[in-house]
Amino acid sequence: MSEKRIKKRVLITGCSSGFGLLTAVEAAKAGFDCIATMRNMEKTGSLNAALHQANVNATIDKLDVTEPGEIEAVVAKYGPFDILINNSGILTMGSFLDITEAEMREVFEINYFGAVALTRAVAPAMIAQRSGLIINIASLAGVVGHLFNAAYSASKHALIGFSQSTRMELNPFNVKVVSVEPGYHKTEMIRRNANVSENFYDRQSPMFEQNRGFLRLMFDEVIPRAGEPSAVAERVVEIMQAKHPRQHYTIGKDAMWATIATRLGLGGLLEKKVCQKLATTARRENRKDQNKKDKRKNRFASEQRTADSE
Ligand SMILES: NC(=O)c1ccc[n+]([C@@H]2O[C@H](COP(=O)([O-])OP(=O)(O)OC[C@H]3O[C@@H](n4cnc5c(N)ncnc54)[C@H](OP(=O)(O)O)[C@@H]3O)[C@@H](O)[C@H]2O)c1
Repeated sequence: MSEKRIKKRVLITGCSSGFGLLTAVEAAKAGFDCIATMRNMEKTGSLNAALHQANVNATIDKLDVTEPGEIEAVVAKYGPFDILINNSGILTMGSFLDITEAEMREVFEINYFGAVALTRAVAPAMIAQRSGLIINIASLAGVVGHLFNAAYSASKHALIGFSQSTRMELNPFNVKVVSVEPGYHKTEMIRRNANVSENFYDRQSPMFEQNRGFLRLMFDEVIPRAGEPSAVAERVVEIMQAKHPRQHYTIGKDAMWATIATRLGLGGLLEKKVCQKLATTARRENRKDQNKKDKRKNRFASEQRTADSE
């Protein structure tokens, strides 16, 4: 870096929507020099509109975290960075039996290996400048396992473990590593970007009836109660400005309750409650489905009888 920068430079991944987009805008508003990246440059519209509305600027560039060449190019073009936010991620729902190996690996490639690759590319310059901050957007699912989300949960557990190890390794160089663990929030991840595994609707799967209950629970109870994503973006920008950031940040009521219960040794009780809730919902859904089938059968039989008597 030839001239001394006045603003702190932050690199954010996954800024086409959700936390990434909102964090980029909040960071720009707070005076950061923001390099907001996304894998698909056809999706710059929402971020540009949000920046325009807030009357701030950010540099938008392409970065797919699974492409080593793109990581290298972004680091060469804009590095060194003061802050890295590993935000990009995908969710593929489905039980460990229904999700394919390729789908599981894709989740890990993006949620875990993508963050690892970025950290390895950006950290050496932070070490050289003896300062830096790496914020990994993990999840409550990385603290407690989420059912029908084994791949996602495992990738976020891995990311939290990686954060913990790198935090200690980078400690001598004054490079801080923070793990952010939000509960459910209303972003595209639980709407347009929510994937279900290839075999999710396979009637031969032993999980078929449970899958139906799980979806009903998501639609009726989890999604309506999800938090506003702006709360996460604002918190992340507070972390960026903190003199002594904490190791972990839990965001959202659901995440608070589950994390506290787990730390108090009540994880077993929590799991029992979730399983009971799922069983009840699955039973109700299956009854509804059976009733529909019975009605159809009865209608058909009565139509047959009428036709026979004519
Ligand atoms: N929303 C929640 O309830 C919640 C809770 C806990 C943690 N999180 C975490 O928060 C982070 C942000 O998610 P979000 O909730 O804001 O969801 P989102 O709106 O779906 O945003 C995810 C972002 O990641 C990007 N992405 C996906 N694969 C990528 C890749 N290979 N390279 C670069 N970017 C990629 C997406 O780009 P495209 O638009 O191209 O797909 C999108 O910009 C994720 O790590 C997620 O796991 C979310």
